[in-house]
Amino acid sequence: MHTKKGLLQQRKTGDKPVWKTVSHKIKTVCIFISWPLLITLHSILTALLNGILIKRYSGDEGQNIKHPSMFLGFGSLHYSLIRNIKPKHILCIGSRKGFVPSILALACQHNNFGHVDFVDPGYDIRNKGKNWSGVGFWKKPLAKYHFQTIHLQQWISLYVMTTEEFILSHQKGIYEYIYIDGDHSYEGVKKDFMLLWPKLRKHGLMVFHDVVAKGTLDNGKFGVKKFWKELKIKEKIIFPFPKTSGLGIIQKIYL
Ligand SMILES: C[S@@+](CC[C@H](N)C(=O)[O-])C[C@H]1O[C@@H](n2cnc3c(N)ncnc32)[C@H](O)[C@@H]1O
Repeated sequence: MHTKKGLLQQRKTGDKPVWKTVSHKIKTVCIFISWPLLITLHSILTALLNGILIKRYSGDEGQNIKHPSMFLGFGSLHYSLIRNIKPKHILCIGSRKGFVPSILALACQHNNFGHVDFVDPGYDIRNKGKNWSGVGFWKKPLAKYHFQTIHLQQWISLYVMTTEEFILSHQKGIYEYIYIDGDHSYEGVKKDFMLLWPKLRKHGLMVFHDVVAKGTLDNGKFGVKKFWKELKIKEKIIFPFPKTSGLGIIQKIYL
């Protein structure tokens, strides 16, 4: 039996004005169209950002990047480690024009947490045997604005100095993630390790670039491979590719 109230309610919901039904249909169609559209848009924006990271910040094959697909190679490895670990303090030693440091800072921005201390004395070919493909970029006046291009300035600080100078002036710093890509000689990388291992928090990660690199570069003899081989730490992970560089990771299990 229909009551007067029930009939009134049915009329309210059943007899929708035509414009309301049409707008509802448009909304439904939009939702279905916009998902693929949004996904495409997202892929385009990601490729654009990756393109900037590779070109402006000088990512190269040594970082296992792939140009046509704008794949970030080892950069994506750093990014996902930082997104997962969410470290408060990150230290990055050495970079030609900021490829790895910018990715570390980007991951902090996406975490909305953490900060990168980036250290490089800005050596170039005039510093014979010490620049390791460095082009003196960090000594240029504009270098301090370099990370502003993709709004990362809040997440990264630049220190134009060597590892040793940095440690002397920042004695209290402790890090959960340390990336070493500075002095690639055997003595140089060993020194960085000795200086920085005490600065790594328990369960923190220390990452080395060029653990399989051989020969010489800009008058310097690669020694990271020898150092890596000698390193007596059980928790060692190696990505021995590309053959010209490679990446090694160790974890500090015991203090
Ligand atoms: C250019 S990076 C090597 C390339 C790197 N694999 C990349 O993908 O950008 C090496 C950098 O280490 C820096 N460097 C050299 N000796 C250093 C030291 N003792 N402490 C910190 N950085 C150093 C150089 O200035 C140079 O910019």
